[in-house]
Amino acid sequence: MTRMLVSIRNLTLRLPSGGRMLTVLDDVSLDVLAGEALAVAGPSGSGKSTLLGLVAGLDTPTSGTIVVAGAEVTRLGETALARFRRETLGYVFQSYHLIPTLTAAENVAVPLDLAGVSGAPARARELLAGVGLADRGHHYPAQLSGGEQQRVALARAMALDPPLLLADEPTGNLDSATGGAIVELLFALNRDHGTTLLLVTHDDLLAERADRVVSLRDGRVAGERRRATLVP
Ligand SMILES: Nc1ncnc2c1ncn2[C@@H]1O[C@H](COP(=O)(O)OP(=O)(O)O)[C@@H](O)[C@H]1O
Ligand SMILES: [Mg+2]
Repeated sequence: MTRMLVSIRNLTLRLPSGGRMLTVLDDVSLDVLAGEALAVAGPSGSGKSTLLGLVAGLDTPTSGTIVVAGAEVTRLGETALARFRRETLGYVFQSYHLIPTLTAAENVAVPLDLAGVSGAPARARELLAGVGLADRGHHYPAQLSGGEQQRVALARAMALDPPLLLADEPTGNLDSATGGAIVELLFALNRDHGTTLLLVTHDDLLAERADRVVSLRDGRVAGERRRATLVP
C-alpha cells in the first residue's frame, strides 16, 4: 500500500516587499508518496527554495498546511521542530553549507552528536566511505572540491537515516560529470535504500530522472508529468 510521506495543502506565502505584498507561493497543493522521487522544476524565482524551506519548517506559511510523516510542520514547537529536522529529513543545498572549521568527518558527526548517538566518529567514517570519501575524513571543506563537499553534505544529511531527503539544486554549482555522480548517489539512495526524495532544480537532466516532475511558475503549480519510461 502506498502512503503519503509529505502532504502539502493550499500553501500560500506572502511577504512584504518594497511596500507591497509579494505572493511567493500561491495555493500550492502537492503530495509525495513514501519511496517516491519527486522533482519540483521551474525557473529561477518561481518559489522552489521557499517551498523546500517551508517543508523543513524553516519558515512559516501565510496559510495552508504541511504534514510530513504524520507531523503538521507548522504546529511543531521549537524542540519538536529541531528533532523533526534532525530525524525526519536530510537537507542538501546548492552551496553545501558545511561548517568550514570542522573536518569532513566532524561535519558528518554533527547530527550524530546532537542526537546522542554513541560511536559517532566511527559511524561518520562509514558514512563518508559510503559516498566514496573514505580517505578524506580529516580534510577541511576548503581542501575539498565542490563535488567532494557535496558528498560530505549528503553523508551528513543521511547520518540519522531520515525517511525524506530534501535537495535544493544539489548539482547547481557542479560541472556535469561531477553533478552526474551526485545525481547517481541521490537516486541510488532512493532506489536501494527507499529514501524518499524531494528535489528542486531547474536542471532538466536531473528532473527527468525523478518518478514525477511538478512544475512551479510564479509560485503556482503549473503542471505535472510522470516519467514515461523507466531508465535502467
Ligand atoms: N525573505 C524574502 N523576502 C522577500 N522576497 C523573497 C524572500 N524569499 C524569497 N523571496 C522571493 O520569492 C520568490 C521565490 O524565491 P525562491 O523560492 O528563492 O525561488 P527559486 O528557488 O525558484 O529560484 C523570488 O521572487 C524571491 O525574490
Ligand atoms: Mg532556489
